[in-house]
Amino acid sequence: MAREKKRAIIAGNWKMNKTPSETTALINELKPLVENADCDVIVCVPFVSISAAVEAVKGSNIKVGAQNCHWEQSGAFTGEISAQMLCETGVEYVIIGHSERRQYFGETNKTVNKRMRAALAADLNVIVCVGETLEQRESGVTEEILSEQVKIAFCGIEPSDFDKITVAYEPVWAIGTGKTATSEQANAACAHIRDCIVELYNLRLANDIRIQYGGSMNAANAQQLLDEPDINGGLIGGAALKAADFAKIVEVASAN
Ligand code: 13P
Repeated sequence: MAREKKRAIIAGNWKMNKTPSETTALINELKPLVENADCDVIVCVPFVSISAAVEAVKGSNIKVGAQNCHWEQSGAFTGEISAQMLCETGVEYVIIGHSERRQYFGETNKTVNKRMRAALAADLNVIVCVGETLEQRESGVTEEILSEQVKIAFCGIEPSDFDKITVAYEPVWAIGTGKTATSEQANAACAHIRDCIVELYNLRLANDIRIQYGGSMNAANAQQLLDEPDINGGLIGGAALKAADFAKIVEVASAN
């Protein structure tokens, strides 16, 4: 199906990198490089660096995101942060269900759904991550895995929340490995995710939702990936930690 081009969404996932002072420095370096961007620009920083990031982006076109949130508003959940707490810090976005959380911290499709619902209820924009492992791709169950992840993540999500949702397709085997999915593989997976939304909701919502690709996206391969009709942006790990590289991806996305 021919897709119309949407405004791209480029988000940096800094993961467990950058202290508050390093965050200020990187954002200050980034600001002039992306000030003319014609796409959404977001940096998702560690919890402790949020206030530094919110202060540093003031007056710029960069928005700040967090990398996780809990589903309860408050309570005995040592080490967790609620969506309400994030809102008060000035965060506008939150990544939910990143594969590193699924892999290392017991995140399941069900907890992804709970976190997503809580974040939306708090009026945060959500970047919800899905993606298959190498083993799953090699055994031919990629589509099945994506369908299940999308179906459970979106359980109970209202169509009225769709303008706050971005899906990130991140094949686990391409994250931090330098191994990028080919643009065809990435586009096919994103198209499948869109098909799942058609099945769960309708064609209009499926066409309108933005789907990012994530997994070793960098300044050199961004153009090819962003040229694909079903890829509407990128969730960038390693390359987001270098202002020039991230800015180059933003530039490519803006020109698209
Ligand atoms: P890399 O860009 O480092 O592969 O990380 C991708 C990612 O996990 C973004 O969320």
